[in-house]
Amino acid sequence: MAGVRERTQVGIIGAGPGGLLLARLLKIHGVDSVILEARTRDYVESRIRAGVLEQGTVSLLEEAGVADRLHREGLVHDGVEIAADGRRFRIDFRDLTGKTVTVYGQTEVTKDLIAARLAGDGAIVWEAADVTPHDVDSDRPRLTYRLAGREHELQCDFIAGCDGYHGVSRNCVPSFLRQEFERVYPFGWLGILADVPPCSDELIYARHEDGFALASMRSRTRSRYYIQCSLDDDIAEWSDERIWAELKRRFGPEVAPHIVTGPSIEKSIAPLRSFVSTPMQHGRLFLAGDSAHIVPPTGAKGLNLAASDVHYLCRALVAHYRRGDDRLLGSYGETALARVWKAERFSWWMTSMLHKFHDEASFEAQMQRAELAYLADSRAAQTALAENYVGLPF
Ligand code: FAD
Ligand code: PHB
Repeated sequence: MAGVRERTQVGIIGAGPGGLLLARLLKIHGVDSVILEARTRDYVESRIRAGVLEQGTVSLLEEAGVADRLHREGLVHDGVEIAADGRRFRIDFRDLTGKTVTVYGQTEVTKDLIAARLAGDGAIVWEAADVTPHDVDSDRPRLTYRLAGREHELQCDFIAGCDGYHGVSRNCVPSFLRQEFERVYPFGWLGILADVPPCSDELIYARHEDGFALASMRSRTRSRYYIQCSLDDDIAEWSDERIWAELKRRFGPEVAPHIVTGPSIEKSIAPLRSFVSTPMQHGRLFLAGDSAHIVPPTGAKGLNLAASDVHYLCRALVAHYRRGDDRLLGSYGETALARVWKAERFSWWMTSMLHKFHDEASFEAQMQRAELAYLADSRAAQTALAENYVGLPF
């Protein structure tokens, strides 16, 4: 090949939270990597997505040495509120599980990880075009890509596919070995970000006869709200005024007066999907995060699952380099998937309970109301929600 030849131990595709955290953890354990990212740094740092970190994810960011700002600026939440049928109740995580979650934006996690990487850990190749894995089922896998019109080849010991749902790595698992499980939901989430104080100290998940609503935040002065919308909706049809009015209606008369409105900083519509692709490894290619699985955001699990995958993968790679022990690499997919399926179940359950799927007079809607009434009054049901929301152990 005419072009630039390079070599590293682990070639990582994607500078999302998964790829960046993996690179950082590997470096701490003395393993080198190169990250190839299709987009610019600015694009990656400003992509508004997740907001809730499980305690295990926070511990992993501490282990990675990137949790100082998180501890200064992140908001520790002891519980969430659920509003349905004119009733509001609280799930007290600390009381029910002894654990909490931290509200800290994915943008901030990403910025902290990029800053740590660029302070001496190794390269991030931004705007790498046509990244393509080769020979993943041999012991000399390679990545080729183009940078500023020049061909590059990166020889690796292993490849980590951390390139999200639309990436290239999942398709390197041959189709005859691959099994995909999917549920596409018949609605989307319209999100709005605004520099206004949140309407409550904690998140509020609301079921309303016209659809789900969520009140979240990024800080004490920045709010993030979502409403269930039609997949056919055009964001241009949703003026800020219309979104605020709809949010007030769905949260009802108790919460509405506390909703402070203001101009949006960002507005977008996201589809909702449950998706798992197995196996998560093929030869020397290992998938982690959204490249292998997607959850609907109702359970706040996507970023946290990317973090737990990366934890398992890092542990397995370190066992290989330190002790020549490949057993954890061999069982990586199985170990990661066991946790993934539980988070898929929880995210599907939260989505099913809180969104409008059917007419209010239907049997299904009655089941949703019964589920919520049971949750409101049962400590056992609340404990089950709480232990999943704060994150199952990894
Ligand atoms: P990504 O963040 O998708 O990163 C993949 C990276 O790979 C990207 O930078 C991409 O540009 C790059 N890439 C793609 N293809 C290529 C290629 N061919 N070559 C090179 N690079 C490539 N999760 C939570 O845990 N809690 C929440 O509260 C939450 N809320 C959410 C709200 C919304 C509206 C959405 C949309 C998602 C939410 N999530 C949440 C999910 C969370 O954002 C994702 O699960 C998380 O970003 C997954 O990280 P990742 O690193 O696996 O993938
Ligand atoms: C968010 O703040 O973006 C957020 C919070 C909780 C969710 C989903 C998204 O369940």
